[in-house]
Amino acid sequence: MAQLSARQIALTALRLWREEKRFADSIISELLAETVLKPSDRAFALELFYGVLRNLTLLDFWIRRLRASRVESDLRDILRLGLYQLLFLETAEHAAVHETVSLASKKQRTIINAMLRAATRRRSELLPHAEAQPLFVRTSHPQFLVERWQQHFGAEHAQELCELNNLPAPVYARINLLRIDRTEFLRTYPESRLVPDNPNFVKVNSLPSDALERGHCYVQDPSTTIACQLLDPKPGERILDACAAPGGKTALIAEQVKNRAFIAACDREQRRVRAMRANLQRLGAQIALVEQCDWTRQSRSIFQSANGGFDRVLVDAPCSNTGVMRRRVDVRWRLTPADFGRMQERQIAIIRAVLRWLKPGGVVVYSTCSLEPEENEEVVRRIVAETPALRLEAQKHSLPFRDGFDGAFAAKLVRST
Ligand SMILES: C[S@@+](CC[C@H](N)C(=O)[O-])C[C@H]1O[C@@H](n2cnc3c(N)ncnc32)[C@H](O)[C@@H]1O
Repeated sequence: MAQLSARQIALTALRLWREEKRFADSIISELLAETVLKPSDRAFALELFYGVLRNLTLLDFWIRRLRASRVESDLRDILRLGLYQLLFLETAEHAAVHETVSLASKKQRTIINAMLRAATRRRSELLPHAEAQPLFVRTSHPQFLVERWQQHFGAEHAQELCELNNLPAPVYARINLLRIDRTEFLRTYPESRLVPDNPNFVKVNSLPSDALERGHCYVQDPSTTIACQLLDPKPGERILDACAAPGGKTALIAEQVKNRAFIAACDREQRRVRAMRANLQRLGAQIALVEQCDWTRQSRSIFQSANGGFDRVLVDAPCSNTGVMRRRVDVRWRLTPADFGRMQERQIAIIRAVLRWLKPGGVVVYSTCSLEPEENEEVVRRIVAETPALRLEAQKHSLPFRDGFDGAFAAKLVRST
């Protein structure tokens, strides 16, 4: 295994993220898996990498103030790391400058040293300058996204949302009642704290690995429950979880029906299907039949033989993820204004394909972790308009600035005939 420092790992991760356009989470976890680091250094590498990604626009704003001429990408990554330590983490100057300069090639060292020392000297000018910038610079979000949120939610909530996206996300876990009851859970894991108004959820400071391995809990945000509440599955029913991997909601549905129903849990991605199988087994959700299936390609499917269809169908659709941006730090840098319309077409295609398997009188719940009306209300409006047998019965949102949890949307539709 390689011996890299936390700063070297963060810098490598930033370069790979920029060059390979892969997901931030998978880049950093691969690098950390290949390296031996103390837990504190590991935490520091994560802090540096995600901290820089969360604050890209602002760090680049400061770089422009420190150097008017063009800055090469490699040099910029090192400067971003250095400035993040100096101006956000308030790392001691000698450590931040010395260690960051040592990451650079000989040719780059003089300029990096000079710019980081200048940043320390001009700190009292750089910080207030940042405060005077528009919200999208101050909180490092794409301008188009901030503007649409200002339109949809108003200026105050848009600001709260951007600020929340830059805070480390709390870790919540759902107590898995299929394996343990609440009292026993709290006795076994006394460091966990119950979440008010969500009696089966706890907040923890770090991932409770023992509890996870034993299937006593599953890391999940309380906002994910609104879809399952609207689905309201009953023992004895046939339930289809159409976009199910990695199985968080499937396991909750199994718990709701006390493992006394039939659940078909499908997903298109093989890797995620594998993870779902392992999760459901660990969580004791024995009633789920897991199947790889892409709804937009009518390939072989267990449903060809599903006699009579399903009583309840959950479509927890792929989406832009704008409700979970505090957890998926690089989502904001992937999005373009065209994505919301594009996602809407994918979502509608999946619902259309899945509706064939809904029984007359059955319930379909459509859900996302998006905050965007194109992917939520607009999808529901179009589906209801083109399917006269469907009636919208209820709709729920979780809004980070209102509810304190991730953003989520769920709509319950009932089929008459
Ligand atoms: C929001 S995630 C589902 C999360 C899951 N319900 C849970 O609670 O753990 C959306 C899922 O839809 C799957 N998906 C995307 N397009 C699909 C398609 N055409 N057919 C089936 N699954 C699809 C993705 O692979 C992804 O796992």
